[in-house]
Amino acid sequence: MRLGGITMKVTKNERMPKADELAQELSNFLNQKFGSRIKIIPTAAFFPDEDETVRPPPEEKDFEIKFDLKPEELVAYLDQYIVRQDKAKAILATKICTHFNRVKYQRDNEGKVSDTVGRIKNNVLMLGPTGVGKTYLIKLIANKLGVPFVKGDATKFTEAGYVGADVEDLIRDLLREADHNLELAQYGIVYIDEVDKIASSNDAFGHDISRSGVQRALLKPMEETDIDLKASHDPIGIMEDFESYRKTGKRNKRVLNTRNILFIMSGAFADIKDIIKKRVASQKMGFGAKINTPEEDALFLRKIKSEDLIEYGFESEFVGRLPVNAVLDPLSVDDLFTILKNPNNPTILGKKMDFMAYEIKIKFSDEALFMLAEQAYSQKTGARGLVSAIEEALLIFEKKLPSTKIKKIAITKDVISSPQKVLDSLLADPHHSKWTDQYNRVANDELANMSQYIQENRERLSKQFSVDLTDNNRVTYLADYCCQNIMDLETSFSRIQTAFSNVDKIETDFKKAHKIEIILETSARDYLVQQQLERALGIENFFEWFNKNFEYALKLIHEKKGQSSFVIPKEALVDSEVYLENLVKDHLQGVGS
Ligand SMILES: Nc1ncnc2c1ncn2[C@@H]1O[C@H](COP(=O)(O)OP(=O)(O)OP(=O)(O)O)[C@@H](O)[C@H]1O
Ligand SMILES: [Mg+2]
Repeated sequence: MRLGGITMKVTKNERMPKADELAQELSNFLNQKFGSRIKIIPTAAFFPDEDETVRPPPEEKDFEIKFDLKPEELVAYLDQYIVRQDKAKAILATKICTHFNRVKYQRDNEGKVSDTVGRIKNNVLMLGPTGVGKTYLIKLIANKLGVPFVKGDATKFTEAGYVGADVEDLIRDLLREADHNLELAQYGIVYIDEVDKIASSNDAFGHDISRSGVQRALLKPMEETDIDLKASHDPIGIMEDFESYRKTGKRNKRVLNTRNILFIMSGAFADIKDIIKKRVASQKMGFGAKINTPEEDALFLRKIKSEDLIEYGFESEFVGRLPVNAVLDPLSVDDLFTILKNPNNPTILGKKMDFMAYEIKIKFSDEALFMLAEQAYSQKTGARGLVSAIEEALLIFEKKLPSTKIKKIAITKDVISSPQKVLDSLLADPHHSKWTDQYNRVANDELANMSQYIQENRERLSKQFSVDLTDNNRVTYLADYCCQNIMDLETSFSRIQTAFSNVDKIETDFKKAHKIEIILETSARDYLVQQQLERALGIENFFEWFNKNFEYALKLIHEKKGQSSFVIPKEALVDSEVYLENLVKDHLQGVGS
C-alpha cells in the first residue's frame, strides 16, 4: 500500500498491518502533509482487530452482474409510474438493459467474443420541456436496477469553479456504489442532469469558459479514459483504499477505466426549438412560422439534429459522443389528470403524508384532481405545476387544521377553486354532517378507483406478487388496504404478498409438525390475510393459537378415523370452539371409546 511518500508492503499472502502500525503510518503521512494537529485514533470501524481473520482473496472473477431484466420488463415497470413518454421509456429501457446484458454476456463468454467488437458506446441524451419526467424516469430506473449507478448535476460542475475534478469525482463514486468492486464499477452508469446548463451561449464570456470546460472534461470519460482512483493527497481516499482491501482482500488497481461506462444526460433545452425552427424554416420544410403551443414545440423538438445542439452551445465532439437521443413529450391536461389519479403518484401521496403527520386524513375527489390538472397545465411547467397547484389550495388547511380537532377532510372541487371560503365555513361549523358525508362519498369513490385500477392491472399484479386476484371480494378488501395506507402500490402489494405467504406457511408448518394436512379455504385465507393487514394478528401468535386449539381435535380424528387432511373454513377460525366441537361430534359419532 502506498501512502504518500511511505511505502507499506502488503501483498496477497502477507499478514495485514496491525491497527497501531497502520495508524502510525497514516499519522506520519498526515503530519508531513498538515502538521501535528491531525491525529489518527484507531477505531474498529476503520481498523480490524489484530486477531480478526482476514478474508481470503476472492477468485479472479470475483463479481457477478446481478442483472436479468429485459427491455420490455423495464418498460412495464416504468409504465406503472410514468404517464406518456413511450418513446423515451423504450429507448432508455432498451439501451440500459442491453448495456448490462451485453456486459454480462461478454463476461460469461470470455475468450469467445472479441473485446474490441462494437466498442462504440450508446450514450443517451434526453431532451424535453420542464416537468415531463426526465429526472423521474432515471430515478425510477436507478431504483430498479441494482447495479452501480451514479447521478450528478451538470450545474454543480460549473459552480465548483475548477473544472474536471468534479466530473471525475462523480465517476469515482461508482466505486462506492459498486461496494468497492472496481471491476463492477467499470460497468456502471453515470447520469448527468441539467446538461443544457453547460452549453455555452455566444454572447457571454466568464461563464462560458467554465461551461465548455466542463464539456471538455466530459469528452474523455464519455469515450474511454483511465480515472485516477485516489489522488495521493487524499487521506479519505487512502482510508477507503484500506477499507476496500479489508473487504475484498484485494489491492485496488489505481485507475478506473470508463470504456464500458454508459453515460446518460438530460436537459430541458428550453430555447432549442427556436434554433430547430430556424433551420427547418430555412430548409423550407413547410412548417408554419408561428409556434406557440407546447405540442407544436414538441413537433420541432422531435426534428432535432446534432447541428442544432452545436448551435445551442455544445462542442461538436461532445454532441458526437451522445449518439442516442430521446425526446420527451409535453403533457396535456388529461395526462396531468392521469398522473394525479395514479395510485403511485408521489405528489398526492406526499400531500396525504403531510396531513397524516398531524393525523389528519385527506381524500381527493376526481373533480378536484381534474381542476388541479387544469391549473397545473396553465402554469406551463409540466407535472411540476401540480405541486404548486396543490400547495396553493391546501396550504391554509395545512396551517389551520392541526390546531383544530378536525381529523378528516375531503378535497373537493370547491376546496381547490375557493379554499379560503371552504376553510371558513368548515371552521364555522366543523360538526355539520355535510363534511362527514362529503368525506365518505369521496372515500368511496377513491376505493372504487383503486379497485378499478387493481382490476385493470390484475394480470401484472397477480404475476408480480403471486396473488390470485380473480375474486372480487378479495380485490375490494385489498383496494381498501391500499387506500388506507399512504404507500405506493408496489409497497402495499409487497406487504400483501407477505401476508399470503405467511398463510401458506401455516399450512406447511402444521403438516411438518403433525403430519396432518390442513387446507385453508379461500374464505379462511382471506380472513387471515385481512387480520394481518389490519395488524390485528401477529402471524406467530396465530400459529401458536391454531396449534393449541386444533392439534388435539385433528389428531384425535386422525387416530380414530385415519383422516389426514382437513379443509378449514373461515368459521373454524372465527369461532373455533363451536366448530371443533361439531367436527369431533360429526366424525366420532358411533366410534367406540
Ligand atoms: N410523465 C410523467 N408521469 C408521471 N409523473 C410525472 C411525469 N413527469 C413528471 N412527473 C412528476 O413530476 C415531477 C417532476 O418531474 P421531473 O423531475 O422528472 O421533471 P424533469 O423533466 O426532469 O424537468 P426539469 O427539466 O425541470 O428538470 C416528478 O417527480 C413526477 O412526480
Ligand atoms: Mg430534471
